Amino acid sequence: MTQSLNIRFIFFIFTYTIVSIASSSSSDDYQAYIVLMDKSMMPSPFSNHHNWYTSVLSSLSDELPVTHLYTYNHVMDGFSAVLTKSQLKRLEKMPGHLATFKEKIGQLHTTHTPKFLGLAKHTGLWPVSGFGEDTIIGILDTGIWPESKSFHDEGMSKVPSRWRGTCETKSFCNKKLIGARSFSKGMKQLKENISTTFDYDSPRDNYGHGSHTSSTAAGSRVEFANYFGYANGTATGIAPKARLAMYKVLFFNNSEDAAATDTLAGMDQAIEDGVDLMSLSLAFDETPFYENPIAIGAFTAMEKGIFVSCAAGNEGPYGYTIKNGAPWITTVGAGTIDRDFAAYVTPGDQNYGTLIGKSVFPKNMLVKGVHIYFGYGNKSKETCDYNSLDPKDVKGKYIFCEFDDEISLITRLVTLNKLKTIGAAGAIFSSDFGNFLFPGYFTFPFVVLKLKSGDLLKRYIISKKNATISVKYGETLLGVKPAPQVAFFSSRGPGTQSPWILKPDLLAPGVNILAAWAPNRISARIGEDLLFSDYRLVSGTSMASPHVVGIAALLKSTHPDWSPAAIRSAMMTTTDVLDNNKSIITDMMTGVQGSPLDYGAGHVNPNKAMDPGLVYDIQPHDYINYLCAMNYTRKEIRIISKKSEINCANATLDLNYPSFILVLNNTNTTRYTFQRVLTNVGTSDSSYQAEVNTPRTGMNVVVKPSTIFFEGKYSTAKFEVIVDIDISDAHRPTNTSYFGNFGYLSWLEINGTHVVRSPIVSAIAFVQPN
Ligand SMILES: *[C@@H]1O[C@H](CO)[C@@H](O)[C@H](O)[C@H]1NC(C)=O
Ligand SMILES: *[C@@H]1O[C@H](CO)[C@@H](O)[C@H](O)[C@H]1NC(C)=O
Ligand SMILES: *[C@@H]1O[C@H](CO)[C@@H](O)[C@H](O)[C@H]1NC(C)=O
Ligand SMILES: *[C@@H]1O[C@H](CO)[C@@H](O)[C@H](O)[C@H]1NC(C)=O
Ligand SMILES: *[C@@H]1O[C@H](CO)[C@@H](O)[C@H](O)[C@H]1NC(C)=O
Ligand SMILES: *[C@@H]1O[C@H](CO)[C@@H](O)[C@H](O)[C@H]1NC(C)=O
Ligand SMILES: *[C@@H]1O[C@H](CO)[C@@H](O)[C@H](O)[C@H]1NC(C)=O
Ligand SMILES: *[C@@H]1O[C@H](CO)[C@@H](O)[C@H](O)[C@H]1NC(C)=O
Ligand SMILES: *[C@@H]1O[C@H](CO)[C@@H](O)[C@H](O)[C@H]1NC(C)=O
Ligand SMILES: *[C@@H]1O[C@H](CO)[C@@H](O)[C@H](O)[C@H]1NC(C)=O
Ligand SMILES: *[C@@H]1O[C@H](CO)[C@@H](O)[C@H](O)[C@H]1NC(C)=O
Ligand SMILES: *[C@@H]1O[C@H](CO)[C@@H](O)[C@H](O)[C@H]1NC(C)=O
Repeated sequence: MTQSLNIRFIFFIFTYTIVSIASSSSSDDYQAYIVLMDKSMMPSPFSNHHNWYTSVLSSLSDELPVTHLYTYNHVMDGFSAVLTKSQLKRLEKMPGHLATFKEKIGQLHTTHTPKFLGLAKHTGLWPVSGFGEDTIIGILDTGIWPESKSFHDEGMSKVPSRWRGTCETKSFCNKKLIGARSFSKGMKQLKENISTTFDYDSPRDNYGHGSHTSSTAAGSRVEFANYFGYANGTATGIAPKARLAMYKVLFFNNSEDAAATDTLAGMDQAIEDGVDLMSLSLAFDETPFYENPIAIGAFTAMEKGIFVSCAAGNEGPYGYTIKNGAPWITTVGAGTIDRDFAAYVTPGDQNYGTLIGKSVFPKNMLVKGVHIYFGYGNKSKETCDYNSLDPKDVKGKYIFCEFDDEISLITRLVTLNKLKTIGAAGAIFSSDFGNFLFPGYFTFPFVVLKLKSGDLLKRYIISKKNATISVKYGETLLGVKPAPQVAFFSSRGPGTQSPWILKPDLLAPGVNILAAWAPNRISARIGEDLLFSDYRLVSGTSMASPHVVGIAALLKSTHPDWSPAAIRSAMMTTTDVLDNNKSIITDMMTGVQGSPLDYGAGHVNPNKAMDPGLVYDIQPHDYINYLCAMNYTRKEIRIISKKSEINCANATLDLNYPSFILVLNNTNTTRYTFQRVLTNVGTSDSSYQAEVNTPRTGMNVVVKPSTIFFEGKYSTAKFEVIVDIDISDAHRPTNTSYFGNFGYLSWLEINGTHVVRSPIVSAIAFVQPN
């Protein structure tokens, strides 16, 4: 492969490590379609629907052969195939044809986290759940590197007999990795020969992303895992005894792309194989749910009791950027952890002491007495106007740059690349904006100082003719405050498709997460040295979803009878909304206090989720009532639910969800009465008292009744929540995520310790930008 491709690839990995999928369709006359059929119309001679479909297709094959891609058994009754427009027209006139969708394309735009989440060997959810023993997690991603130490199966019991899955390449499988398949038929229509595009036409990961998400969810223990010395420690997945099955649906085609046909086939197979949980760190553009392959596949999974978590997207920090926002999916945003990677900067004059900055330059090294250059000794914001730097002045020196304002990620990358090109030895950036650190920037020696430290260094540089500094790279700091913060890139709510449900649901770690990587991928390039690593620090909501699926696996091991909605409720009502400095969770970039539109119910707390006291449960038919109230047609609801009879008599947007959101549409005040039912998942009789906490004005909440009683396990209690919102005096920025008011409803157990907390938030309806 060529040099230039490598560079682009690295750039890509580091800039958009989470997966977002843009929809596009080829205008070609001959292309892939997903076709839904009405199985009740299948002529009697056919023993199964697959034979019916292939027979239909062969009857169309007179002009050009029709290529059958997949028959879908679970996610829908139907198939995908490559057809010409005229073949499609004929097919659409045939009896039994229900609907057709064009192919869509999606692109892929830790040692420490179990401890940060409070998971411990001898107390709490880990030992109680047997570390997730005998749950099976399906991961849909870029494949897996089966030889990674994170997938060893030492100490694992034999594979559960209910498992129906397999490995395409037998040698990939062991008692940890029990399934590995690859779905590339759709991608092959777009890209003739996958193996010439630097990807494997097999479940093997040629990228690293799928190995990373898999090992985060359920990797085995590995000692001394690290990224060039940073984050050195024992790496373990969140559910270290759970089994993994990889469904590779992302292939390299310019970037990592997933075809809708392949994604549906992967989800269909995962359901067929018998996974208990699924995680998808990829997304298609938000379209109505009946056109979204992940929403369609996840509905069937949910009906079969399979918990599905998905990355919320990396389009933050602006509102209405949620991906995977269907209410039957658990939508996960990304937060920081209390770990930082640091470098010490010591000015040549002892009076200035030693300054601590952030860095993940991948080498543990000390740079002594290097000259530092500050182009302009004035307050201009153009201190890093690299175009005006004279290579003569900067060669072999560190460059000091100051950023008073928010500077885009791309500007920073471009600046660093330019400094490198003109021969600078390194760079020190001074900035208070928190979105500076991505491992990708550190192919060049580079430290970020807070403005306060930066000012000190600047004073020193200006005061000396030939200022020098020493830099010590490679430090890992723990216990960093405040943490968690909402990652600046984490997509914010509400969702565009159904703003009547608060999304994201919750936050999980997603910044600088260490987990397994494909060791054949270049991790960094330092001069002529190409560095490879089995473990890699990566950031994104892609990293957050596998944390949540791992926790859900632990909960499912502990409570096999809980529905996916009950598991989600347990996680949501027991989250933390305060950081480790006892303040409401803040935004990583600005340090400003967040709201439920940023962090959902809060940051996941697995030990508390194990014993939530009460849950808000949801049945599959409740979601259908919700779709009815969205005014989807019967046919559209049928595509999602696979039900041929849709009764919308009980349509309501008021799902029994563990959070509350009110949407203000061209009005400053609104009132909504929510109906809710709580189910006791504790073992004894209990009673709870409502407590409402509304830190802001403009929100009034009444709960009726304010005390509820439960008799034994699984008994239920109904109540209503009347919320009044008035935002007339509130400051209303048009594009940030925080539009309105928020507060909390907590049910406090009387004579007990359970607290069942839900956020209540208002938001302004999405206005389509002109
Ligand atoms: C990748 O997929 C797109 C379809 O979105 C297709 O048009 C394009 O040719 C493919 N790229 C390559 C390099 O094959
Ligand atoms: C695909 O590309 C690989 C590697 O270049 C080559 O070995 C193989 O024969 C190609 N397959 C087809 C079907 O063209
Ligand atoms: C990781 O830590 C172990 C034990 O403290 C040590 O032996 C090892 O050298 C460290 N690895 C790196 C790369 O720093
Ligand atoms: C500050 O630096 C900029 C950048 O070169 C320069 O254009 C400007 O004249 C300087 N201002 C002063 C007051 O020196
Ligand atoms: C600064 O450094 C340069 C090059 O190393 C040297 O030529 C010059 O004499 C030094 N100036 C002072 C004031 O130390
Ligand atoms: C922690 O909270 C205190 C009190 O609110 C505040 O003064 C301090 O700046 C906070 N520390 C950090 C690191 O945010
Ligand atoms: C659905 O249609 C009804 C009747 O036209 C309307 O009142 C309601 O606002 C619509 N709901 C949504 C979510 O658009
Ligand atoms: C609507 O709700 C009522 C009362 O809960 C129930 O009896 C009825 O069966 C529901 N109808 C449908 C179509 O779900
Ligand atoms: C909402 O309140 C603002 C002032 O806070 C006012 O300018 C605006 O006209 C009000 N809108 C409506 C629909 O009443
Ligand atoms: C959002 O608003 C800020 C300031 O109000 C502006 O700088 C920024 O460009 C806006 N972003 C988008 C995506 O509109
Ligand atoms: C709570 O405990 C007190 C004292 O033991 C008792 O009087 C009261 O009835 C209990 N309340 C409930 C609801 O169990
Ligand atoms: C807001 O109102 C407009 C026009 O009345 C309507 O088209 C739109 O669907 C509404 N949006 C929401 C989120 O209810």
